Order: sequence, then C-alpha cells, then structure tokens
Amino acid sequence: MSITNEASTTLPTARYRPSQRLLHWLMAVIIISALLIGLYCSYLTPGTPLRRALLDVHKSLGMTALVLIAIRLPLRLSFGEPAHRRPLDVFNHYAARGAHILLYALMILMPLAGYTTSAAGGHDLPWFGLFQWPNLLSPDRGLERIAAQIHEYGAYCLYVLVSLHILAALWHHFIRRDEVLQRMLGL
Ligand code: HEM
Ligand code: HEM
Repeated sequence: MSITNEASTTLPTARYRPSQRLLHWLMAVIIISALLIGLYCSYLTPGTPLRRALLDVHKSLGMTALVLIAIRLPLRLSFGEPAHRRPLDVFNHYAARGAHILLYALMILMPLAGYTTSAAGGHDLPWFGLFQWPNLLSPDRGLERIAAQIHEYGAYCLYVLVSLHILAALWHHFIRRDEVLQRMLGL
C-alpha cells in the first residue's frame, strides 16, 4: 500500500489536454471580461453612447463564449478529465464536480439568455464591429423581460461561483500544495 502511495507521488502530474487548457484560459479571460463589463454597464444610464459601446463589446465577448463552449463541451465529454495522482477526498471531489457542472451550465445559459434578451428586444447583435449575428427571434417584450431576468440572476450565480472557483484553485495551490492548479497550467 505504502509502495503504491510513494510511487503515485513520483508520477508526473496528469494535465488536461492542450486543447482543453487553451479553451479554459481563453474562456476564463472572455467570461471574466464579460462579467466585469456587464456589471459596469448595469450602473450606466441606458441609451448613453458609452453604455452602447461597452454593451457591443460585451455582446461580442458573450457570443464568442457561446461558440467556444460549443467546441469545449464535446471535447470534455470525449476526453474526460485527467486522473488525480492522489484522489481528492470525498468532500473536495463532489464540491469540485458540482461546481464544474454548474459553471458549464452557466457558460451555456448566460450567452443564450443574453442573445435572447437582445434578439427578442430587436437590438443589435454585433461581433466586434465586423458583422451582425442573425436574429432568429421575432420581437417579443415578454420573452425579452424573462431572458433579461435569467441573465441577471445567472450573473449573480456566476459572480459567486467564479469567485469560489478562483479561491479554491489558490487554496489548492498555496495551502494544500497539491497538483490541482498544475493540471490546468501550461500548453
Ligand atoms: C458568458 C457570457 C455572458 C456573461 C457572463 C454576461 C454577463 C452579464 C452581466 C454581469 C450583466 C449585468 C447584469 C445584468 O444587468 O444582467 C449583463 C448584462 C447584459 N448582457 Fe450579458 N453576459 C453574457 C453574454 C451576453 C450576450 C451573448 C449578450 C447578447 C448578445 C448579452 C447581452 C447583455 C445585455 C443586453 C445586458 C444589459 C441587460 C439590461 O440592462 O437589462 N450578454 N451581462
Ligand atoms: C483566474 C481564473 C481561474 C483559475 C485560476 C481557474 C483554475 C482552474 C483549475 C486549476 C481547474 C482544474 C480543476 C481540476 O483539475 O479539478 C479549473 C477547471 C475548470 N474551470 Fe477554471 N479557473 C479560472 C477561471 C474560470 C472561469 C472564469 C470559468 C468559467 C466561468 C472556469 C471554469 C472551469 C471549469 C468548468 C473547469 C472544469 C474543467 C473540466 O473538468 O472540464 N474557470 N479551473
């Protein structure tokens, strides 16, 4: 038993696939930027040029996240996650699993709710000034309002989950000193 444990600690850390790591960090930058810009916009008066310009960037980032999650999810489902050198204890295992599933769910829900808000409201759907995404919905005030509420409450959930997720990564790295952060680092 002890031989197995010693051997397991000398094994190199198994990392996520390069494509999974690339998508994780790319989406982390995009989503954190979208969250911060969205939060800032919620304090600006609707209709002002600054809010419009920032919302255009926000929508562009959000639609990029929607495209990337459509690539990332199939990769996750086919590659899975790398084995831990030393399995996490039961609490950490289920806490991480639950948080990751919720993060994935929100990465799908948030862009879809944002798109629905803008599309049903008949607003622009720009992508960095290069083109407009097709509007697949007819104008619908009721749908716009419901989607905007889902988007707002989803954002509250993301603020909390992303903060806990980052704190957990730092806790694993600096306090528990295990391999969890390493699994997602490097390309
Ligand atoms: C990962 C993707 C996204 C995240 C994390 C995100 C986050 C946020 C946050 C934090 C806010 C401010 C809170 C609120 O008022 O709801 C917001 C507002 C908004 N977002 Fe997003 N968003 C995302 C994607 C999108 C997309 C794809 C669109 C449209 C194409 C969009 C359109 C909007 C609009 C129009 C508002 C202003 C809503 C209002 O003032 O009623 N978002 N978003
Ligand atoms: C500075 C910011 C971030 C850090 C330091 C970080 C760190 C990490 C680490 C170390 C892992 C691997 C966990 C493990 O091996 O069990 C991970 C996985 C994950 N992260 Fe992040 N992350 C950050 C931002 C984000 C953001 C903004 C999101 C999405 C909103 C996110 C979503 C995820 C998901 C869904 C996983 C699970 C990956 C999988 O199993 O496919 N992360 N993160």
